[in-house]
Amino acid sequence: MATVAASETTALFAALRSGADALCRLAEEGRLSEEGARALADEVASAFGLDGDVVRAELCSRTLGDARMPALPPRLAVETVVRLLAALAPVRGASLWASGGDCLSAAGRTSAEARSLATAALAGRAGHGDVMTAPVRSWGRTAAVLVLEAPPSAHPLCRDLAAEAAGSVALALEREALLDRNRQRERSLVEASERRLARLAFDIHDGPIQIVAALGLELRLLGDDGSDAPGRDRALRGLHERLAALEAELRELTQTLEPTSIARRPLDASLAGQAEAFGRQHGITVAVETAGDLEGLTPSQRIALVRVVHEALTNARDHGGATDVRVAVRGDRRGVTARVTDNGGGFDVATALAAAARKGRLGLVGMSERVRLLGGRLEVESRPGGPTTIEAYLERWSPPAAAAASTAASAGRPVPVTA
Ligand SMILES: Nc1ncnc2c1ncn2[C@@H]1O[C@H](COP(=O)(O)OP(=O)(O)OP(=O)(O)O)[C@@H](O)[C@H]1O
Ligand SMILES: [Mg+2]
Repeated sequence: MATVAASETTALFAALRSGADALCRLAEEGRLSEEGARALADEVASAFGLDGDVVRAELCSRTLGDARMPALPPRLAVETVVRLLAALAPVRGASLWASGGDCLSAAGRTSAEARSLATAALAGRAGHGDVMTAPVRSWGRTAAVLVLEAPPSAHPLCRDLAAEAAGSVALALEREALLDRNRQRERSLVEASERRLARLAFDIHDGPIQIVAALGLELRLLGDDGSDAPGRDRALRGLHERLAALEAELRELTQTLEPTSIARRPLDASLAGQAEAFGRQHGITVAVETAGDLEGLTPSQRIALVRVVHEALTNARDHGGATDVRVAVRGDRRGVTARVTDNGGGFDVATALAAAARKGRLGLVGMSERVRLLGGRLEVESRPGGPTTIEAYLERWSPPAAAAASTAASAGRPVPVTA
């Protein structure tokens, strides 16, 4: 830019700014073409009588640095970066290669040897004179490599552009990986809730619906019954008992299925209620032992632990044929551990997980996902013959405001009160 007279500098910068703005808009609309970008840069260069290569490189750099670039959908961002390089850097062609050797994007006249050059660069070997490579570093590792095909004389101009471009590509790849992970999590959570709903339907079918059917039958018999008053009294008492059983059954269902009730109760009370109901319903001994400090857990943590224990109990009954299950929960200053051990037949964990993934089973996966979403970990220990132990660990967590309040309070300073 040194060849521009001072009076023209402002006009030149304005032209470059509006050029970068136009290129970003075209990129957002998916209409950015190499010819268009080059024509725009050449127009600016000839209007100011400047060297084309320098103006193109400047326009490329400004467009790569525009605040709208990181907001493009990741794939479009990657394509735009490669296209901008091919159009505006002094190169014949530009391409981007993933660490596995796949071409993520290519533009301009890329040579047949681009792939082997990229592979060599990924393996840490240098390219030859007509090629420049730039690693794309993401989360501490080389995730991809940019290959710019240009004569050695153009390398100094290319180097800064390649570094800027590699930064933009790294951001786009990281965003894509995060979006991908979110999509997977969402999918497994949706599937897990669908299975839970299906399970709710089975629970309602096998429990309350059976009781209601029996009640209907008894009422009909009572209507047809020509027996005396004491006989009818006895029958009515029976009906009352069944109604009470129905109410209890429905309460149990809501207790295990409605998260708000778990969220409101202390963890030990929820676990004890669940164990008692489960044991009574299925004729299994379920012992709950709690120790240490279980106060101060968040509602999400309590819900996750109750759900994990419930799934472990269900699996112990359905798959292990267990008759005795121990639930041990211990809390300390750092976190809380819930361990469920059953005396059932056990299983080979790796094989069962692979089979469960094939069949779309979500019990163990759902448990682990719940705990992982809260930053904890889940371990499954079992072998054919048993026993089986499921252990969930969640770290204590306090909201930043509470943490700041306790730090400030212990330092004797005033605590800001926020709504
Ligand atoms: N406590 C256990 N005892 C014996 N086998 C178990 C136990 N827990 C899990 N398994 C085995 O692991 C497999 C996967 O369990 P998971 O809970 O993921 O799925 P599922 O119970 O089969 O189906 P879902 O929970 O989705 O209804 C089970 O099918 C079973 O073979
Ligand atoms: Mg299961």
